[in-house]
Amino acid sequence: MSFWTRHHIFEKNSIVLIIGILVVVAIGGLVEITPLFYLKSTIEAVGGVRPYTPLELVGRNVYVREGCYLCHSQMIRALRDEVERYGHYSLAAESMYDHPFQWGSKRTGPDLARVGGKYSDDWHVRHLSDPRSVVPQSIMPSYAFLAHTEIDTSFIADHLRTLRDVGVPYTDEQIHNAAADLKAQDDPDSPDGDAFAKRYPKAVIRNFDGKGGAPTEMDALIAYLQMLGTLVDFKLYNEKANLR
Ligand code: HEC
Repeated sequence: MSFWTRHHIFEKNSIVLIIGILVVVAIGGLVEITPLFYLKSTIEAVGGVRPYTPLELVGRNVYVREGCYLCHSQMIRALRDEVERYGHYSLAAESMYDHPFQWGSKRTGPDLARVGGKYSDDWHVRHLSDPRSVVPQSIMPSYAFLAHTEIDTSFIADHLRTLRDVGVPYTDEQIHNAAADLKAQDDPDSPDGDAFAKRYPKAVIRNFDGKGGAPTEMDALIAYLQMLGTLVDFKLYNEKANLR
């Protein structure tokens, strides 16, 4: 009996067939899975990505609390229509400090992964307070109350510490200065501004809601929206990709 006709052993004996299937599937699994154990990280390091500033982090919490992710995604897929509409497709590194990530699964409104810098702060204040005043057909709810809700800064240092426990590389200095940094980012005249800018490269210092006084949730949410998708310099990133 030649080697090629011996398959009847498998066909006539279900136990042998099951063992055969398991062996073949295991080989396939090993080929796919083993290399992952030899990689230090499955996320490619990309220049410019930094942890959120305390103010952006509070804004991000408002985003999660208000359920913005139910209508907005933050994930530009590598498909032509998406890239033409929203910009460069999202990189894994761009959400590596997100706990939990905000990729979303529904777009009642547009993707927000690169909304940073697309509109002025003033536009955001008006849009969040009364969406129909700037986009008459909008079905987005109003979030006017954010402008009257002051931020409680007492928890922010613990929040950074907790994020560090799950892998976000906040330094002791950043944790120690969290509450001061939160206020400094919202106040261009703050004496803490220079120290803050050193701790968070490329962070924008601005009075986001255009009103004085203590930072509100409106300031925080706009600070967050305005930095979305702006950390990576895609000119440098693409040059590097071409050199590879
Ligand atoms: C019920 C669904 C819904 C919810 C919830 C929602 N939005 Fe929207 N959003 C929309 C729609 C629809 C649009 C497009 C029309 C418009 O600009 O108002 C939009 C537009 C936007 C835009 C402009 C995007 C662009 O590129 O033009 C921003 C920014 C935005 N939303 C932020 C938020 C934030 C922040 C929250 C949470 C506080 C939120 N949205 C909650 C539906 C929603």
